[in-house]
Amino acid sequence: MSMTSEATGEHRNAVQLKGLCKRYGEVAALDSVSLTIREGEYFSLLGPSGCGKTTLLRIIAGLEVADDGELFLCGELSGLTPAHCRPVNTVFQNYALFPHMTVRQNVAFGLRMKKVGKTQIVERVSKVAEMVRIEDLLDRMPERLSGGQKQRVALARAVVNEPKVLLLDEPLAALDLSLRKQLQDELRNLQRRVGISFIHVTHDQTEAFALSDRLALMNRGRIEQVGSPTELYHQPKSRFAASFLGACNIFEGRFLAHLEGCALVETSLGELRVQTHDGGLPRGSAVVCLGVRPESVTLRPGPGIENIFRGHVREVVFSGSETRVTLTSGSLVLQSVLPSPQAHLLKLLIGGAIEFSILPSAVRVLEG
Ligand SMILES: Nc1ncnc2c1ncn2[C@@H]1O[C@H](COP(=O)(O)OP(=O)(O)OP(=O)(O)O)[C@@H](O)[C@H]1O
Ligand SMILES: [Mg+2]
Repeated sequence: MSMTSEATGEHRNAVQLKGLCKRYGEVAALDSVSLTIREGEYFSLLGPSGCGKTTLLRIIAGLEVADDGELFLCGELSGLTPAHCRPVNTVFQNYALFPHMTVRQNVAFGLRMKKVGKTQIVERVSKVAEMVRIEDLLDRMPERLSGGQKQRVALARAVVNEPKVLLLDEPLAALDLSLRKQLQDELRNLQRRVGISFIHVTHDQTEAFALSDRLALMNRGRIEQVGSPTELYHQPKSRFAASFLGACNIFEGRFLAHLEGCALVETSLGELRVQTHDGGLPRGSAVVCLGVRPESVTLRPGPGIENIFRGHVREVVFSGSETRVTLTSGSLVLQSVLPSPQAHLLKLLIGGAIEFSILPSAVRVLEG
């Protein structure tokens, strides 16, 4: 009975990984990675350099074999299936186009290898060329394309094969910022149109947030946390997740008592009320690690607000739409960020005394 339900469950999963391990000599590139990527999902693998993202992608593609663990593609055990027999295509950072072929020949290559009929090749190439907007480039040689155009051709060349899963390894890393943003939008639209699963490797947190339905944060060959961009940003579990996914004020506290839905924690700021989300805080005098995003540190709060503290303004940095304010309070240095028009109205003075507040629901208790 359980087999039936598991089989049904697995079938809706594009990729399922169970306890994957991969070592290179002393280095554990992957250390027991378990992960499920659903059909039609835009999924990102995010993490610092060397955390194992490319290794994981290469194992899914069949370009590398895991030392241990299981890999299922569309419900089928596929760890030893040769790369060209998997329902998967890869787009690499360096595009890897064939230099001696035109764009059209590059895009058609996979279909010709699969002996697809000529008329169908023409149809599929022109449909995909329209999707990624390279219709006008089809007769050019790759050397006469810009970086963004090459990346569109590389996408077309992969999508035309109608894989179940498209793997993208840092596909936008070589492009300048504005082109990267434009191609992010195009990738998201393309994924919605074709409806297949995309697995996108990046070490850029804003890119992973902008693109993904869900993402996995990786660290040292392990999955640190999996969830939607908002879950990961607002509910980081660990110190690493909190600081990798954006700016975060991290400080220690000592648990004092539970009070209706909140815990009272002693910190260098004073007594801080922390809303206990899941599982609460340990009892006794345990030391806990707390994280608060800078936008949740409110300057000059109105009356009736909880968790009000006093401090001094150390620095004010204007960065266009936002202003970042560094505060000192007791032995702590905290960051607050607010929209620049609001900061302007506050007329902040360096060295001036200031009250600030921290919303009890915005404080996360972090592991490690
Ligand atoms: N072929 C190899 N031989 C030896 N070590 C390797 C090999 N491939 C990867 N590694 C090591 O495995 C670890 C994970 O590498 P991987 O390329 O998967 O990281 P990554 O997350 O993709 O990093 P980056 O963001 O820099 O591309 C690294 O420590 C790397 O040095
Ligand atoms: Mg890599």
